Amino acid sequence: MDNALLFRIDDYIEGLFGGDDAALRQNVADASAAGLPEIQVSANQGRLLYLLTKLSGARRVLEIGTLGGYSTTWLARALGGKGSVTTLELEQKHAEVARKNLDRAGVGQHVLIEVGPAKATLQRLIDQHTPPFDVIFIDADKTGYAAYLDLSLQLSRPGTVIIADNLIRDGAVMDESSNDSTVRAIREFNATIAAHPRLESIIVPIAREKIDGLSISIVR
Ligand code: SAH
Ligand code: DHB
Ligand code: MG
Repeated sequence: MDNALLFRIDDYIEGLFGGDDAALRQNVADASAAGLPEIQVSANQGRLLYLLTKLSGARRVLEIGTLGGYSTTWLARALGGKGSVTTLELEQKHAEVARKNLDRAGVGQHVLIEVGPAKATLQRLIDQHTPPFDVIFIDADKTGYAAYLDLSLQLSRPGTVIIADNLIRDGAVMDESSNDSTVRAIREFNATIAAHPRLESIIVPIAREKIDGLSISIVR
């Protein structure tokens, strides 16, 4: 596929709608300076997350995979000061970078960062009878996605929007015979959401350095 054209289109859309503002540019720069991997969602994807969250009228947002808080910033901004984001992160260092970035972006007071393995944190939220979330964004370790979906459904209500990142991996997921554990996990995840009795879903291809994809599901 001619990826170059798709990247130009992604840049064109970013140019039209503004891309990153100063706070988001600073977020990416500081995360990179602190040695975090540059694997945050793209600006256009951030705007899509923002719009989906706003469209759903969400007050309670859950994110699995914080990194430096780039996507968290988009999600928190969609709440317009009314609501909160709970974001789960394994690495203490990532959480510290994210905390600074979120505070500086002016959304820190609406974001709770839970440090630790996401599965354990999700199970604790379930055990504590946490009220259901309105939007859930899954974007952590890919081999955990199946478990994150199961646990997320236990933190959902009918109408909850569940979004997951990195579902196309430049088309690698179309290879039935792949031995790559990430590819296999994502292939299985994609088949699961497509057939899931509690979900209505689609995967939208996303143009960035590689072609990737984002699922959008609504809980029945
Ligand atoms: N959502 C972020 C990117 C997340 S990258 C953004 O778009 O800005 C994936 C993150 O998941 C990394 O920070 C990684 O440390 C974290 N992660 C990996 N395994 C995890 C686990 N088991 N539990 C919680 N977080 C995990
Ligand atoms: C990669 C990208 C991501 O968006 C992510 O969440 C994890 C890994 C990557 O390109 O390796
Ligand atoms: Mg991702």
